[in-house]
Amino acid sequence: MSCRFYLPTTQSTCGLCYISKILMSDIIVTEKICKNYSLGTHVVRALVDVDLHVGMGEFLCIVGPSGSGKTTLLNLIGCLDVPTSGTVKMFGQYETAKLNDKETTLLRRDRIGFIFQSFNLLPVFNVMENVGLPLELQRVPKAELDKRVKALVEEVGLIEYAQHRPDELSGGQRQRVAVARALITNPQLVLADEPTANLDHDTGMAVLELMLEMNRNHGTTFIFSTHDPKVMGIAKRIVTVEDGRIKEDRNVA
Ligand SMILES: Nc1ncnc2c1ncn2[C@@H]1O[C@H](COP(=O)(O)OP(=O)(O)OP(=O)(O)O)[C@@H](O)[C@H]1O
Ligand SMILES: [Mg+2]
Repeated sequence: MSCRFYLPTTQSTCGLCYISKILMSDIIVTEKICKNYSLGTHVVRALVDVDLHVGMGEFLCIVGPSGSGKTTLLNLIGCLDVPTSGTVKMFGQYETAKLNDKETTLLRRDRIGFIFQSFNLLPVFNVMENVGLPLELQRVPKAELDKRVKALVEEVGLIEYAQHRPDELSGGQRQRVAVARALITNPQLVLADEPTANLDHDTGMAVLELMLEMNRNHGTTFIFSTHDPKVMGIAKRIVTVEDGRIKEDRNVA
């Protein structure tokens, strides 16, 4: 069916279709990526010919048994490692294996947020300081930093804990701090490797609900891995990995 809207553009499609195509454009494209690890004479084939396209604003969950390659895939997407063969293209313009160290560091600092299973908060910093750290690294002026940190800490429901250090918070509250820290730079992409693994089911669901809310409010793309079938229900797309290959890729209504 042809689109009933027409905006004059130089494209062969109408303006609204063109705009929606841009909005839905892929921010990650992996083409036939393989990752091998050498263990002495033995080679572990952690990923085999993985083709994955992820669009802007997706809320995607990677599942699969232990050792299936989930962390390896997230590490390649997060520019923490490069594939043995194949290509990872990010944000429509960067092929990760071709970036130098400085370019990789800037890409990670400015466009990707990370959330870890074990929170990885700095123990001597309070909530505000932990959330503000990525902005310090970007040398954002103090007044702007304070304003942005306060607004986000409020948004994740922790303003009354603002001066608490991580050891004065519950596991769920710590992961909320980690979510805020991952989002403070307004990254286009947030990667979370088993963000609920150290949380009980209800707390884990609350953290995922928060991530989903951030996905809705800010349009941030989220990719998270999990073992927990109960938390998969919240994802909009589930990619199943087995023995380093994508076994199933389905959208969830
Ligand atoms: N640095 C490494 N050196 C050697 N082998 C590795 C390394 N990292 C991962 N592997 C191997 O690659 C395979 C995939 O590991 P990966 O950590 O990606 O799995 P996973 O799906 O994240 O597992 P889990 O659910 O237990 O976290 C496994 O066989 C693992 O042993
Ligand atoms: Mg893992």
